Amino acid sequence: MNILAICGAGNKNRNTAAMLKSAFDGAMSLPCTTGEMIYLYDLNFRGCIGCHSCKLLDENRFAHCAMRDDLTPVLEKAIAADVLLIGSPIYFSDITGETRSFMERYFFPGITYNKDRAPTYPKRTKVGWVFTMNAPGEVYRDFFDGLVSMANRIIGDSEYVMAYHTQQMEDYSKYAANMFDVEMVKRRHIEQFPKDCDAAFEMGKRLAMTHE
Ligand SMILES: Cc1cc2nc3c(=O)[nH]c(=O)nc-3n(C[C@H](O)[C@H](O)[C@H](O)COP(=O)(O)O)c2cc1C
Repeated sequence: MNILAICGAGNKNRNTAAMLKSAFDGAMSLPCTTGEMIYLYDLNFRGCIGCHSCKLLDENRFAHCAMRDDLTPVLEKAIAADVLLIGSPIYFSDITGETRSFMERYFFPGITYNKDRAPTYPKRTKVGWVFTMNAPGEVYRDFFDGLVSMANRIIGDSEYVMAYHTQQMEDYSKYAANMFDVEMVKRRHIEQFPKDCDAAFEMGKRLAMTHE
């Protein structure tokens, strides 16, 4: 079984990467698994340019992204994965630009403009999302549900976990950032964040256990 984790956070040592790593460890805890964690901010790539090559009725081009950059081998790995884990912080009420660009390049070749909108990839891949943010997670439920239903349709069964009121800075007093309840944020980081990572671990394990 093949596990791929895609980290769409700029920092490898903070909330999103840590929680995604827990999801990855959960999936990897099953026997006979191989896996890899890829950090999108290490790569040089762009989002979909809308060339429509992936919709051409040509077996060499259909359902493949024609763009050639650092994301090209990652997309092949994602298509071949049994479980794909995607982690992103919320930036301005959305996933990060890098995560979004990955998603465009991966999701768009996975569908046609045919009436049946049938998915094109040769196999179904389970998708687990990991989101971290400041605002209470309820604020973004509709957005997360939209991503899950898009992944369900194009890629495979999908679910998500999240952590909110995350700790962003070690010493908030050094920053223009007095809107935060620092005591609450720090307490959550100690008490709640490990539980959020446990939930991510369980999601990774569940997805790996139920893959087709
Ligand atoms: C550019 C930027 C924009 C952000 N926008 C939002 C936002 O719209 N909503 C929110 O809840 N948190 C927002 N945040 C906070 C992050 O989502 C949150 O701190 C997240 O846990 C950071 O992930 P990291 O620790 O992995 O870097 C933003 C942070 C940055 C840097």
